[in-house]
This record gives sequence, C-alpha cells and structure tokens, in this order.
Amino acid sequence: MPKSRKEGRKHRHKEYDREADSGSSPKPAVSDATPAKSFDDLNLKPDLLRGIYSHGFERPSAIQQRAIRPILRGRDVIAQSQSGTGKTAVFSIASLQILEEKNSQTQVVILSPTRELAEQTQKVVNSLGDFMNVTCHAAIGGKSLGLDIKALETNKAQIISGTPGRIFDLIGRRALQTKNLKALIIDEADEMLSKGFKEQIYDIYRYLPPQTQVVLVSATLPVDVLEMTRKFMNDPIRILVKRDELTLEGIKQFFVNVEKEDWKYDTLTDLYDTLTITQAVIFCNTKAKVDWLTQKMKESHFAVSSMHGDMDQTARDRVMEEFRSGSSRVLIATDIWGRGIDVQQVSLVICYDLPTNRELYIHRIGRSGRFGRKGVAINFVKEDDMETLRDIERYYSTQIDEMPVNVTEMI
Ligand SMILES: Nc1ncnc2c1ncn2[C@@H]1O[C@H](COP(=O)(O)OP(=O)(O)OP(=O)(O)O)[C@@H](O)[C@H]1O
Ligand SMILES: [Mg+2]
Repeated sequence: MPKSRKEGRKHRHKEYDREADSGSSPKPAVSDATPAKSFDDLNLKPDLLRGIYSHGFERPSAIQQRAIRPILRGRDVIAQSQSGTGKTAVFSIASLQILEEKNSQTQVVILSPTRELAEQTQKVVNSLGDFMNVTCHAAIGGKSLGLDIKALETNKAQIISGTPGRIFDLIGRRALQTKNLKALIIDEADEMLSKGFKEQIYDIYRYLPPQTQVVLVSATLPVDVLEMTRKFMNDPIRILVKRDELTLEGIKQFFVNVEKEDWKYDTLTDLYDTLTITQAVIFCNTKAKVDWLTQKMKESHFAVSSMHGDMDQTARDRVMEEFRSGSSRVLIATDIWGRGIDVQQVSLVICYDLPTNRELYIHRIGRSGRFGRKGVAINFVKEDDMETLRDIERYYSTQIDEMPVNVTEMI
C-alpha cells in the first residue's frame, strides 16, 4: 500500500468539521460519538431531510444515530451493526450530505459484492435524494458498459453504486474520473476484503485521491479484516458489535435433524405450506444444488423460483422483480442472496445446507426479520453437521433449538 496516501490524508478532518458546523451561532459541543436521536439533529440539507422523511423513516436506528455524524465530519468509519438495522441509509444519507450538488462529477463510490445489492443501494440513494439535485448510477457487471459510460459522460453519476469489476473497468477507461472523489464506501466489507475480492478493491483504491474518506460497513467484521484496515484507513472511528450480540432476538433459530442428505428433500416439501405463509429463501451451497432442487420441486408442482451467479442477468433481474413484488414466494438461491438483500416480507430462511462459514450464517438468517420484524431460520443438519451447528451456536452465544411442531405459529 502506498504510504503517501495515508499521510496525505492527515489534515482532512478539520476541513469537513468547518463544513458541518458552519452557518450558525456557537452550538454546544457535539462530539463524533454523540448519538443523533433525530434526523433533525444532523444538520442535514433541508432537501435531504425531506427525502428521508418521505422515504418513510421517522427516527434514526441505533447505527444511524452513531455512524452518520462521524462520516459527515470527514472521519474514516468502520460501521458494524446487526442485519437489517439500516446500514444502507447510514452511508446513503452521509454520501448525499457530503457531496456538492453543483459539482456534477462523481464524488462517492459505493462498492457491493453483488449486482443485485449494488442496484438495491442505488435505489435507496435515489429515493433518499429524491428532492435533491443528485443522481446515483448503478454500474454493474452483466449490464451495458456503454450505458455506464454515457451516464458518466452526461454527469448522471455523482454517486456511483457498483460491483468492483465494473467500477475498476470504468476507472481504467477513464470514464470514471476519480479526482473529485470524496468517499469510498465498501458495503459488506468483510466479504469485499476476503480472498475473492481483495485484489480488485486494492486496484480501485490505488486510483483514489489521497484525501478520499473510507467507510467500511458490514454486519460481520472478523478480527483479521479489522487488522487489515490499518493498512488503508486513517484513524477510523470504529463502531463494532460483540459477537454474542450479533444475532437478533426477533429471529428464532431452529434445526431439523435430517440425518442424511437424502432426507432433506422430504423435510422441505413437508414444510412447503409454512414457506408460503409470507416469503421464504432457501439457501444451498452450490449452483448445481440450486438447479437440482429447483427442478425437483418444480417437477413435483411446487411453485419456486431460483437464483445463482451462472444465470444471465436478464433472468436474475426477472427473479428479483418477481420476488420483490411477492408474485413469487419461495426462492432457492446460493449465497449470492446471502448478504444485504432487503425484502421485508421474508420471514423464513432455510439453510438446506449449512453455510460454509460462521459469518455467512449471520447474513443468511438476516434475510428475514428486517428492521425489527419477526423471522425464523431453520437449519437442515445431517448427522455430521451437528458439530458445525453447535460451533455456530457457541460462537455467537445464541440458541438453536430443535424445530418445534408449531413453528408455523411463529411466522
Ligand atoms: N430509520 C429507519 N426507519 C425505518 N425503517 C428503516 C430505517 N432505516 C432503515 N430502515 C429499513 O430497514 C430495512 C433494512 O435496512 P438495510 O437494508 O439498510 O439493513 P442493513 O443493516 O444494511 O442489513 P444487512 O446487514 O442485511 O445488509 C430496510 O427495509 C430499510 O428501509
Ligand atoms: Mg446492508
């Protein structure tokens, strides 16, 4: 990592402080750590505040109370909070506030691990910024590069929400100019800094101006990732959650001892009526398994839809739309759906296969029980999965009981 970048960023805090505090007579000292009990307390642009309320938010959630202010003050921020607690709005509101509306250049880049998440974020930013003179563009793989370039040329991308490959491509082509960048936001940061993505993130990082603010966000931030942040963050404010406080009260967790792989299928079809009470997501560990299970369910005339990374983008878009609208109610997916996707009606998650790591478990079950809603997670365990499940249970100091007969009543 180039050292000069980090050093070049030293003096930036003061600059934003002036911006945030300017304009009115002396106020009582508000520290970075003072929670903002109301959106009105954040000195936001009036049009942004209007956007927040018209988006339907009344009060900031705990993470919004604590994490927005330090970003506005120019600090690098690491923001962790439980799934579904409103992290998207933390960085969306902050991005909209720190950008200069009169400047049509790209000022904020938001990175997400999946195309669907990048698009979801774009929609949230555009909705919150509805009354402002701002456009957020989604730049993702699988969609027209030409349209991205056009959006950038016609200044319709003051904020750009994308996947790392496409963003880097646009930077390399000089379609995306980085000189006016104020902030780089990395959502699902632990995933983005893990093996598959890390190089791409560093590639992008190298093109950023030295003063670019860095914000990392996720429900899970294992120690090795926090260690890594020392290399590219400047004295960050860290808002963290202890791992024994990471599971949500509202999401009840159960397991069914299916004993053998072969018995998972019948267990699932027995649960089908429960799945369709509201909406459900079923996670499998591989694309092949998603295809196989989907086919088998369809052959038995169960209505299901499915999604994984080998499907073309048009099909993925269609599935998302059908599931978001509620016209499909049961979705079989890989972990492409594991992180960040917000469909409030999802109240049941099934791990047909146990996830391959502990972080994924938190993200998967967090697709249900959004923003204080009730949720149920059911894990199918074979004989030799029991130890893994107990390990998850211990790691998060949580409780995963055997599925009761009246599980339907909990949804
Ligand atoms: N202040 C608020 N008031 C009411 N609803 C809110 C508020 N903030 C966020 N929400 C809603 O909560 C839901 C979850 O928000 P969001 O997707 O940002 O969660 P998250 O913390 O990013 O979760 P994950 O870790 O799963 O990505 C969304 O439907 C959002 O509209
Ligand atoms: Mg999120």
